[in-house]
Amino acid sequence: MEFSTQTSASLHQIKTAAVAVGVFSNNVLSPAADMIDRASDGAIRIALKSEFNAKAGSHLVLRNLTGVKAERIVLVGLGEQEKYTARVHATAENCFAQYCIQANLKEAVSALGSIDCSGTTLRQRSKAAAQAVISNTYRFDATLSKKADPIALKKFAIWTSRTQSSEAKEGLQEGAAIAKGSNFTRLLADLPPNICTPTYLADEAKKLAKQYPSLKVEVLQRKQMEALKMGSFLSVAKGSEQPPVFIIFTHKPAKKSSDNDGPIVLVGKGLTFDAGGISLKPAANMDEMKYDMGGAASVFGTMLAISELELDREVIGLVASCENLPSGSANKPGDVVTSMAGKTIEILNTDAEGRLVLCDALTYAERFKPSAVIDMATLTGACVVALGHVNTGLFSPDDALAEDLLQAARSSGDGVWRMPLDDQYQEQLRSNFADIANIGGPAAGAVTAACFLQRFTSAYRWAHLDIAGTAWRSGKDKGATGRPVPLLVEFLLKQSH
Ligand code: BES
Ligand code: MN
Ligand code: ZN
Repeated sequence: MEFSTQTSASLHQIKTAAVAVGVFSNNVLSPAADMIDRASDGAIRIALKSEFNAKAGSHLVLRNLTGVKAERIVLVGLGEQEKYTARVHATAENCFAQYCIQANLKEAVSALGSIDCSGTTLRQRSKAAAQAVISNTYRFDATLSKKADPIALKKFAIWTSRTQSSEAKEGLQEGAAIAKGSNFTRLLADLPPNICTPTYLADEAKKLAKQYPSLKVEVLQRKQMEALKMGSFLSVAKGSEQPPVFIIFTHKPAKKSSDNDGPIVLVGKGLTFDAGGISLKPAANMDEMKYDMGGAASVFGTMLAISELELDREVIGLVASCENLPSGSANKPGDVVTSMAGKTIEILNTDAEGRLVLCDALTYAERFKPSAVIDMATLTGACVVALGHVNTGLFSPDDALAEDLLQAARSSGDGVWRMPLDDQYQEQLRSNFADIANIGGPAAGAVTAACFLQRFTSAYRWAHLDIAGTAWRSGKDKGATGRPVPLLVEFLLKQSH
């Protein structure tokens, strides 16, 4: 996809397949819509009277308007002007992008970002436009006998003034990189678990690193993990015939930023399938546990995006990947294992395996002397109960780090909600036979899971993102969302300058 800016002052003079202009309800035209309306003898106002109510997310296509060089004008509804937000703008760009791709257009121009929108910059609006276009190109056809048709759309421009063109271009580049990263996350997550195994992820990691000079990858196999004494992680892996892997990505910028901060470390839960182990899950919807590597997939997507953007900050990505299956060699309830940190863990439920895998990855992260560690995990069903599919659960004892992530969530639109981590919850993890139990009872399940992880993070600033409700959609539109890649890239961009 070729992104550019269109700086011709007269929108109606632009020759292209489609131009999008925004319209508010109650017949309020955006300046771009007004310009087209004047050039076309009031064609837009006529349409508004008869057949378009401008509800947010709706659109109407007008063809061959006199006085307008574009083949089509796409009116995109923006709802009430007083309620116009970044989210409505993003919805509008998405609506236009979806139309252009479904209609097989080869090129298009969006004037939707030219409208001021409270709390946004042109850079952010341009970013949203590119993100909308690239995310709408995602098609899962890896395991279909009939492949998806190629995308006809090749050129997408946004309409800006000449003076703002470079700001808009930066936004376009960011949006394209974020969506490319999150589409990669979606692909890895959507792949079936008989294809996307831990070994497959390791191979994809090596392929990814070959594509970017700033990116290096190292893969640890079981033997090396044994030498590191990752006893907790390996105890989960031993129930499966698929060997576990531990992937270490390093993004080292060519031109290092002036500060001497340690790297930011991202850690992803990479269960390529979670059947629950001996504490077997019920059969209904168990297929969705292929998405239990969503955290790992978001590490891949984020590493891709920051490599595309040549982020000037060192970032390490860690992925701990295995399967959680019942078998004669699987963990049993009552087993006590020893983590890499030396703490012993009583496994009271083998389905609480994410924390068993992550705790060793979090201990491994210490060696980088990180300035911050963020883990992403489809960790608990309890988080879905608490926050549904809207917000990712954010847990951090560090207020400044939590605030930075909340800020990144606000500006990326990739929502998070901060959850508590009071010490009182730790009591629920008490064990009679080990230093800590791997479950904390039915109350506050998402919190006690985070509390378990917290025990392994005393060496650095840390935040945990429980993406159990946000990494994928169920039902008819079942599929990975690519979250929280937009959030993470936004956060990392902020940390870089
Ligand atoms: N991967 C699951 C969490 C999950 C479940 C995410 C459903 C999304 C939808 C995790 O490994 C798990 O099984 N957690 C248990 C923990 C419990 C045994 C304390 C859960 O949430 O039921
Ligand atoms: Mn589980
Ligand atoms: Zn799991």
